[in-house]
Amino acid sequence: MDTKKITTAVIREMKEQGEPVTMVTAYDVAMARNADEAGIEILLVGDSVGNVMLGYPSTVPVTMDEMIHHTKAVMRANPRALVVGDMPFMSYQADEAEGLRNAGRFLKETGCGAVKLEGGAEIAPLVKKMVTAGIPVCGHIGLTPQSVNTMGGFKVQGRDVAAARKLLADAKALEEAGCFAMVLECVPAALAARVTKELATAVSIGIGGGNGCDGQVLVCNDLLGISDGFTPKFVKKYANLHGQIVDAFRAYSIEVKSRAYPDEEHSFSIDESVLKEL
Ligand code: KIV
Repeated sequence: MDTKKITTAVIREMKEQGEPVTMVTAYDVAMARNADEAGIEILLVGDSVGNVMLGYPSTVPVTMDEMIHHTKAVMRANPRALVVGDMPFMSYQADEAEGLRNAGRFLKETGCGAVKLEGGAEIAPLVKKMVTAGIPVCGHIGLTPQSVNTMGGFKVQGRDVAAARKLLADAKALEEAGCFAMVLECVPAALAARVTKELATAVSIGIGGGNGCDGQVLVCNDLLGISDGFTPKFVKKYANLHGQIVDAFRAYSIEVKSRAYPDEEHSFSIDESVLKEL
């Protein structure tokens, strides 16, 4: 396997070559190692850690310190993949200086290679400052879960002319501000393909954005089928680990209760003579 570290330059090159980019979320060292071994190019330490790992009802309560904690864990895998830290709600919305400092925390404290933030043209000036300061930025438009309270729920975005035009304008503003990539979440496939075509250098990464994007991202627990709750239409489960995990715990429980586990193979021996001396 190619061991060359993936940088934002490599990701941009992949767009030029027409090679699809793979991205998954990871929140800890074990998952980061697995995804990296599979050759995934970008590991996103998403603020979805809030719902997926921490039991919050949404991404809104996630803090900077929680994001730094999980990004450090992913970085300890020393992955070949580019690691992107997700800026949580209110870490950049209140004022630009705070946003810039928080973006800097990701790079300084975790060693990750880029940050991601939600929003369109309105955050372009902040993105420009981050990029100027040496912080690579991935945008996120379409459905932006941190704004779920003003969006009126988790809905497909850009379905009328005004909304589609705004999406296109947001994408261009982010590219102009210097984003190396941007996530397009819950956008009709033909519109996401159009946005992708209009982006000269920025890499579009779809999640519910159809097949015409430059790359794709999924939440690791969704694609692995780790939970059996609601799954959005765009999620394809490549495994059903939920069933396997529950079956494994059940089998362990049965064997402990019947004293079938641990057997000799999983126990340590001692010389009989030692026991006799006791
Ligand atoms: O936090 C996250 O997992 C994300 C992906 C849905 C792109 O932002």
